[in-house]
Amino acid sequence: MCGIVAYIGPKDATPFLLEGLARLEYRGYDSAGVAVAGRTGGLKVRKVKGRVADLAAAVPARFKGATGIGHTRWATHGVPSDANAHPHLDNAERIAVVHNGIIENADELRAKLAADGAVFRSETDTEVLGHLIAAHAAEGVELEEAVRAALGKVVGTYGIAVLDAEQPDRIVVARNGSPIVLGIGEKEMFVASDVSALVRYTRQVVHLEDGELATVRSDGFRTFTEDARTTHRQPSTVDWEIDSYDTGGYEHFLLKEIHEQPGSVERTLGGRLDERFATAHLGGLNLDARELREIRRVKILGCGSAYYAGEMGAQLIEELARIPAHSEPASEFRYRNPVIEADTLYIAVSQSGETYDTLAAVQEVKRKGGRVLGVVNTVGSAIARECDGGIYLHAGPEISVASTKAFTSTVVAFALIALHFGRIHDLSPADGRRIVSALKALPDQIREVLAQSDAIAELAAEYAGSEGMMFIGRVRGYPVAREGAQKLKEISYVHAEAYPASELKHGPLALISPELPTIALVPDDELLDKNLTTLGEIKARSGRVLAVAHRRPEAKLADHCVLVPKSEPELDPLLLNIPLQLLAYHAAVALGRDVDKPRNLAKSVTVE
Ligand code: AGP
Repeated sequence: MCGIVAYIGPKDATPFLLEGLARLEYRGYDSAGVAVAGRTGGLKVRKVKGRVADLAAAVPARFKGATGIGHTRWATHGVPSDANAHPHLDNAERIAVVHNGIIENADELRAKLAADGAVFRSETDTEVLGHLIAAHAAEGVELEEAVRAALGKVVGTYGIAVLDAEQPDRIVVARNGSPIVLGIGEKEMFVASDVSALVRYTRQVVHLEDGELATVRSDGFRTFTEDARTTHRQPSTVDWEIDSYDTGGYEHFLLKEIHEQPGSVERTLGGRLDERFATAHLGGLNLDARELREIRRVKILGCGSAYYAGEMGAQLIEELARIPAHSEPASEFRYRNPVIEADTLYIAVSQSGETYDTLAAVQEVKRKGGRVLGVVNTVGSAIARECDGGIYLHAGPEISVASTKAFTSTVVAFALIALHFGRIHDLSPADGRRIVSALKALPDQIREVLAQSDAIAELAAEYAGSEGMMFIGRVRGYPVAREGAQKLKEISYVHAEAYPASELKHGPLALISPELPTIALVPDDELLDKNLTTLGEIKARSGRVLAVAHRRPEAKLADHCVLVPKSEPELDPLLLNIPLQLLAYHAAVALGRDVDKPRNLAKSVTVE
């Protein structure tokens, strides 16, 4: 949600802090701040409402120190403002804290601390941490002990970094539900909430576990538990390329990530197709054929686009494996006391692997004895670790807030799962071969769609000024319509509705007018005639139609058309979605939106 960075070493911390925050800005971007322990004692702090660039402009040249922490925020408690920006300090301005997560008992702690003389200067839950740590940081107490004692009184989730003006030879960090990564340098150490801030400086990293703390010094680190037992952590090597974290000549990360899809799909498929037996190898599922045959239902859980990718996944599983499958928003599932069945397989979907609602849904299923697999992009993330097995997408880092390549790779992962399940059930070898060939053809077919980017940009410019857009699709096309509408809303702020094409005449047809164009998914499948009839109904009400189709409909049925290469019917949705990504992107650009950092959003939602 928010981003954390910290540095300790022989150099000046500020350049790393500011660059690291800029790298993490996609995680939250309404305010930012830094604190360094100055060489002459005391803390220097700057924090501003706005972007990291505003912070950089507010940091004077003399703002130097060898130890420092920084934060970029996505507001939960209190509006975006200078006062609510992190770091937060105690009264004496000795302790500075940056925090991701939510302190649930903040009100209670605030009342107690205020009664003891703490003066609060913000509306945030985080500020209690600064005062609480200071209250334990008596003469002669090591900072790690003060942090440990303070966290013992805290209920909630956190990733924190703490700086003490009186012990500037260390930074203390802790994790409980919000990631903290240590980066190991040459006689210097880095900390971040996400490796993307670290990869330019080091590839050697240690991911803290929940309930773990670390004392970080310039020459190394020590990790320990909340009850002070030392833990032993081996560094791992980050294997994603540094280029993945740059726009690489594209105007926006979003456009780059859309164009990366042929490669990211190849990586998701890599080594997983078994042509001899016309199936997929998915060792990470940790389920043998006998166990798989006992599964009677599949329930897919995810939020936002992950949920829509799950809807496409559910259709693939039903069609190829003939196992009833259903996708549900994890954010709803976790609150409705769901019935967990022993013969249902639960699959959690998350690009980040951090989405709190999805994590909570996984924990609820596991608490009731259910089996959960993960379809996750971020290796070692909280959701991946919580699941009993699963598939990594290997789509590479996704920086733009709107998900594109991870969405596509998730659907590809579901196609592999459906193929694997199908071949254990009744999918014939011939049908298995049909799907294997279609999967292999996808990267080139995606390239064909991407080649139409300029033409789609022209259409987007024409449609972007509409008062809203209707997205429609039948059966396999409906999740595509939902994801298309989501993408448009998210980055262009144009209102969009998604409906099953079959439902239009049951109500929403009343909205159709020249000002509300329809984006219609019209695959060349068994429902083509039905879809063409719906287009006729829209045109009869003076609606404008942009068809995304395999064959150009008659001019009287569609004003414009984007042609998409034909796959097998089960996989068509995946390709039909790509023009909608480009449409949303180009509409957002035409309207002058901040494409990679849309208003009110952040890349991963690690709070309830
Ligand atoms: C996608 O464009 C959105 N930003 C959002 O719906 C996202 O998919 C959702 O928050 C789930 O994120 P996750 O995949 O990281 O769990």
